[in-house]
Amino acid sequence: MPLFNYSIVFLQKICDNRGRKNLANQVFSLEQKRSGFSGKLGFVLAAAGSAVGLGNIWRFPYLAAKYGGGIFLLVYILLAITFGFALMVAEIALGRKAQLSAVSAFAKFNRKFSFMGYLASIVPIIILPYYSVIGGWVIKYFVAFCCGNMSAAAQDGYFNSFISSTGEPVLYFAIFLGLTALIVLLGVEKGIEKVSKFMMPVLVILSLGVAVYSVCLPGAMDGVVYYFTPDFSHFSVTTVLAAMGQLFYSMSLAMGIMITYGSYMKKEVNIESSTRQISLFDTGIAFLAGLMIIPAVFSFSGGDQSALGQGPGLMFVTLPKVFETFPGGAVVGALFFLLVLFAALTSSISLMETVVSIFIDKFGWKRNVTCLIVLGGSVVLGLLSTLGYGIWADVKILGMQFLDFFDFISNSVIMPVVALITCIFVGYVIKPQALIDEVETGNVRFKSKKLFVIMIKYIAPIFILLILISSVLSAFGIIKI
Ligand code: TRP
Repeated sequence: MPLFNYSIVFLQKICDNRGRKNLANQVFSLEQKRSGFSGKLGFVLAAAGSAVGLGNIWRFPYLAAKYGGGIFLLVYILLAITFGFALMVAEIALGRKAQLSAVSAFAKFNRKFSFMGYLASIVPIIILPYYSVIGGWVIKYFVAFCCGNMSAAAQDGYFNSFISSTGEPVLYFAIFLGLTALIVLLGVEKGIEKVSKFMMPVLVILSLGVAVYSVCLPGAMDGVVYYFTPDFSHFSVTTVLAAMGQLFYSMSLAMGIMITYGSYMKKEVNIESSTRQISLFDTGIAFLAGLMIIPAVFSFSGGDQSALGQGPGLMFVTLPKVFETFPGGAVVGALFFLLVLFAALTSSISLMETVVSIFIDKFGWKRNVTCLIVLGGSVVLGLLSTLGYGIWADVKILGMQFLDFFDFISNSVIMPVVALITCIFVGYVIKPQALIDEVETGNVRFKSKKLFVIMIKYIAPIFILLILISSVLSAFGIIKI
């Protein structure tokens, strides 16, 4: 018996060590990210680098266009400053308190909740492949602009004929995913991050310029009005669900990422103000992307509002038209897609790193082998998404094409479930005070303490539950929302 006990202890030690080594590697890389910055700026930049990506530039504008413009923007901002804020503070504080990544953090507080680590881990596994498909679309447009095909890219039907073909979307998806895997395999993320730290501000400035230009296009003012004035007749449960899913997606919430980031955060860094800065930056970029695209849709569609509802293709269809009317548009457009590509790559690298470390933590596989396995799995899932717009367009799950289905199941089902259980876990199991103490470490005052408690204990869980039930019922056609 003692021998048996001893072997268990020994086994646990091995696992512990392995976990710690992993964590140590990651901490090391995060410390490196921080080099040259104060602890707080380093943290905010690293978290913002993961948060800002295709979610802001590609996903936010098409959702805002589709779900009523101003009303979507209003709901999104309201959710961001209440819900998003509380959830992000909770995740970062959870991670910093536990000093562990998501998979183990929940288990450390309460064994019964260890399933949450796994549930949260499913999200990046689903997102990475289809994120790479969209990343591939960005490369395609970058290449088109570089090869002097801007006018062709600005034609109606160019986007649809591209995504419904077989070879090209698969090729560009493979290039994007391959690039991501190569960077992760070679461990050259730091180089990419250095470049992207320089690229990000350029992207912001360029986007500002394009937004100003878009707003001045003939007929664009109607679009500005649509984007800024909330029209309550467009309000529905779907608007709220879409805004909530987008909030989680864009701020990398409800998937364990912020817990892991929090576990690397120094104790003296202020969680509350870091959260405010990350969400302000993330929302600012999304807002700007909407301003680039939505007024332009009005200008080019000549008042035909059906263009607003076209979904994932919106950015790719609209922006080439904007650049085409630009003096030197081919160069500006190529630069723009290159910058978006960098923003997408930093996010996909972080997604892949997360997935790889989930498997290493769980199974103790070698890093390189794990990278290849994750790459293989992502190729299969990504192929479904790519071909789902082409030769497999007739295959539908719950009435959705593969890419839309993966997007729906992660953003509108699993993430809200993770967020809901996180709220219950914090509100009723470990109690908000435990995290308030963490936020207030070192005599920091938690200014929005009341908002945090009310959100986490009452408003957020009830709200998410209602939204979830109605969305699932509507997906199965039981109710119409
Ligand atoms: N937030 C990212 C974006 O807006 C996408 C994303 C979701 C992500 N989850 C992530 C990025 C996890 C890195 C890690 O594009």
